[in-house]
Amino acid sequence: MLYIIDTANVDDIRRCNEFYPIDGVTTNPTIIAHEKRDFIPLIKEIRTIIGDDKMFHIQTTATTAEEIVKEGHELQEIVGGEFYLKIPVSPEGLKATRILSREGIKVTETAIFTQQQALIAAKAGASFVAPYVNRLDNIVSDGAKVVEEITEILHGYKLPCKVLAASFKNVEQIHKISTVGGDAVTITPDLFDKLVYHPLTYYAIDDFEKDWESIYGDKSISELISEYKG
Ligand code: E4P
Repeated sequence: MLYIIDTANVDDIRRCNEFYPIDGVTTNPTIIAHEKRDFIPLIKEIRTIIGDDKMFHIQTTATTAEEIVKEGHELQEIVGGEFYLKIPVSPEGLKATRILSREGIKVTETAIFTQQQALIAAKAGASFVAPYVNRLDNIVSDGAKVVEEITEILHGYKLPCKVLAASFKNVEQIHKISTVGGDAVTITPDLFDKLVYHPLTYYAIDDFEKDWESIYGDKSISELISEYKG
């Protein structure tokens, strides 16, 4: 499963990129606005931090196919590398997806709430579809079930489109995506920390340290190797 960071905060991106095996960054207009920074320097800085090989999904703010296609070209030129234009699913968005995918600009169709939206976006040429798991759970739907069915449908029709599950509020929602075969998740840095953290792990580490010190004091393995070698 691909792990993507859902933020435009450069400190968080730098930290996650250093410590976690992340595959890229996603943003949307809300996430970008949250940073209150000049847009172009911000996206250029994010690209510099993650490098050209990691995915960078940036959402269009345009609403007509013509304007969306124009933004796709302009953003591709500015950020380069593994760039994906996020387009909310709509008739204009699908028209733009068909044009851009034919031109070789990769598209992530976003704000997906139904299986048929995802299938149609995949047929239009989207590389990823992004169903909103938590927002589905909030309307008493089942976000993970929708992801599972979209994944099965895309595999069934052998469409070269991956499922990038988005909109998470807890670890359980993310875990369920890995059990239903979702291709990718995009999650906030604080949720990534929660995926990794478990208090029992720290209890175990404390016990290891105490047992080691009871015999070897504060000597590290490296120090013992140096002493052994003389
Ligand atoms: C992905 O990039 C989506 O825009 C994002 O995950 C939506 O999350 P939210 O439902 O918490 O706003």
